[in-house]
Amino acid sequence: MSTCLPVYLTRMKLLITGVSGLLGINLAMESLREHEVIGVDRGKLKSAPFAVLRADLAQREAIESLIDWTRPEWLINCAALANLEKCQADPLQAKVLNTDLPGELATVCAKRNIRFVHVSTDAVFDGTKEGFYTEEDKPSPPGVYSQTKLDGEHAVQQVNPEAILARVNFYGWSLGGRRSLAEFFVNSLSEGKNVNGFTDVIFCPMLVNDTARLLLEMLQKGLRGVYHLIGPQPMSKYQFGMKIARRFGFDETLIFPRSVESSSLTAKRSHNLWLSIHKLSTVLGHEIPSFSTGLAEFYTQFQQGYPQKIRSYQH
Ligand SMILES: NC(=O)c1ccc[n+]([C@@H]2O[C@H](COP(=O)([O-])OP(=O)(O)OC[C@H]3O[C@@H](n4cnc5c(N)ncnc54)[C@H](OP(=O)(O)O)[C@@H]3O)[C@@H](O)[C@H]2O)c1
Repeated sequence: MSTCLPVYLTRMKLLITGVSGLLGINLAMESLREHEVIGVDRGKLKSAPFAVLRADLAQREAIESLIDWTRPEWLINCAALANLEKCQADPLQAKVLNTDLPGELATVCAKRNIRFVHVSTDAVFDGTKEGFYTEEDKPSPPGVYSQTKLDGEHAVQQVNPEAILARVNFYGWSLGGRRSLAEFFVNSLSEGKNVNGFTDVIFCPMLVNDTARLLLEMLQKGLRGVYHLIGPQPMSKYQFGMKIARRFGFDETLIFPRSVESSSLTAKRSHNLWLSIHKLSTVLGHEIPSFSTGLAEFYTQFQQGYPQKIRSYQH
């Protein structure tokens, strides 16, 4: 059950874990305009336009002192082991970062009345359903990554029923320039390289900056509970690559349509990650930004040097 908490209108102090990650850095950039931002990283960020603290969050004892030292009003946890292959290879580390860490953060936040957001994944579903998944559908994670993320949802819910659990999927510009699928297509196609695009993996990509702005809006509105926070348009990874190629003016014939089953990826992937966003758009009272709006912004960011700007923060 999801209900609303009081609405926050003022400037808040926001702690972002995993601030060097794809979501973390873009969330920090979006939050800076209206809020005080403190990021937590492991030493990559050297000259970011917000405060950065260094901590290894796999060390449980670091968590409580970090929160007591910073005393945030909101905490958005973007730290995770988000690489499916690495999770498959190291299930213990996946559990520590994707299950234990959110549970611990949620506990500490609940005790101190800090609003907590756990960023989960669309991949909690195994993709065998026809049509779209709603928040009412029972998750059935297909691998270590998705299982540990779902366990993270449960760990958070047990100790902090006021928390927001956002199941996301996003693309955008990252600190290292190679984190997102969109960057993979841009990097490869701009160099004239052939790439494969999976025709049998359906997902709903959202520009990470839209994800960030919506997370802030969800906090401002005082939401709680599970929400699907993804784009409104389902498409295959092949179609996604084609749309990027067209927007950037790259040669579309460099993208080969392929089945994910023919790839060298070992971690099992769901074929259908079409998730409904009806619950979120209803409670927010507006449409979720369209795919084409997000892609246009992604391209404008490229033209305006946004990728170089965020990359410069790591030197
Ligand atoms: N990308 C997507 O489309 C997608 C889809 C579904 C769900 N998600 C979820 O969205 C969230 C953010 O994903 P992302 O793509 O932004 O991930 P990411 O780019 O891999 O970032 C992960 C972040 O976690 C940090 N981290 C890892 N281990 C840590 C540790 N021991 N101590 C402190 N920090 C640590 C990383 O720091 P370093 O930079 O030092 O490694 C990095 O900042 C995750 O919860 C992920 O599961 C993402």
